Amino acid sequence: MPVLAILGTKGGVAKSTLAMGLAIWISKLKPRERCLLIDGDMHVRSVELKMCRVHDATLKDVLAREKRWESAVYTCELEDETGELLYPNLAVLPAGGRFMPPMRESPLVYLEMAKRLFGNMIEGLRKEFKYIIIDTPASVAFEHLILTASADAVIYICEPNEDSISSTLTTAEELKELMGVQALGVVLSRVPADIDADAWVKKVRRIAPFLGTIPEDPQVGVAFRENLPVVAAYPDSPASSAMEGIARKILGVTVKRTDVGEKLERGFEKVIERVREEKESV
Ligand SMILES: Nc1ncnc2c1ncn2[C@@H]1O[C@H](COP(=O)(O)OP(=O)(O)OP(=O)(O)O)[C@@H](O)[C@H]1O
Ligand SMILES: [Mg+2]
Repeated sequence: MPVLAILGTKGGVAKSTLAMGLAIWISKLKPRERCLLIDGDMHVRSVELKMCRVHDATLKDVLAREKRWESAVYTCELEDETGELLYPNLAVLPAGGRFMPPMRESPLVYLEMAKRLFGNMIEGLRKEFKYIIIDTPASVAFEHLILTASADAVIYICEPNEDSISSTLTTAEELKELMGVQALGVVLSRVPADIDADAWVKKVRRIAPFLGTIPEDPQVGVAFRENLPVVAAYPDSPASSAMEGIARKILGVTVKRTDVGEKLERGFEKVIERVREEKESV
């Protein structure tokens, strides 16, 4: 039962487009299974704003320990023109507003809390959902590490330019070293029709196994302005079809189940080790 996080280092590289696209396609391809899309971006909240506007509990409330995760899971609200739910087997956990970890608690106390909270949440969610996808924010913020630790494997996404690819490569190496996070693969997004895509594919293969390209497609922008995921608004568009292909590939990969607490602990220990080494070298 894999938990997959979509990660990209830069803003606007289509992380949320891919997270929403994969969640919708997996729920369409596996109509008898339940899927969950977690909006881990508490600042931009693309998933929440497009797929789960009506709610009263969010990830932010769960992180602040004000609500239980069980109350923050909602069926995706998108409907067809007759009022029928478009994806009845797809649920969404909305992000809520910005979350700041309480400063009065020591990092160790907070680590213990995060381990317990996220460990329990992911264990509980695994029992209800066969596939769990997490959309993440652009920066490597505090909640970002917890979200990454919550996933069994990560799907990286970058655009065909050097800064996007090199920063993604660095992040992938760091996360592997810090928490032993497995990279399921990498997606090359927003590929214009007039470039040599193969040359860029070769470059992104250094990050992780290549999963596919998503073409630059004006229908993604049109859907965004209609406040809809492109797969819901234009299921036959080039970007949507590309994401179907990537979803099919992902469904064919076996992902090993991992432990949230172990990864957080390992990451934390490594960070402390590094700080100690730096202090000693001063
Ligand atoms: N394949 C595509 N073709 C054209 N436009 C695209 C494509 N993919 C994404 N976009 C556009 O790029 C913008 C950013 O997309 P998206 O929100 O998915 O990226 P993101 O990485 O999640 O951004 P953020 O860092 O803000 O969370 C949107 O306006 C979207 O319409
Ligand atoms: Mg986003």
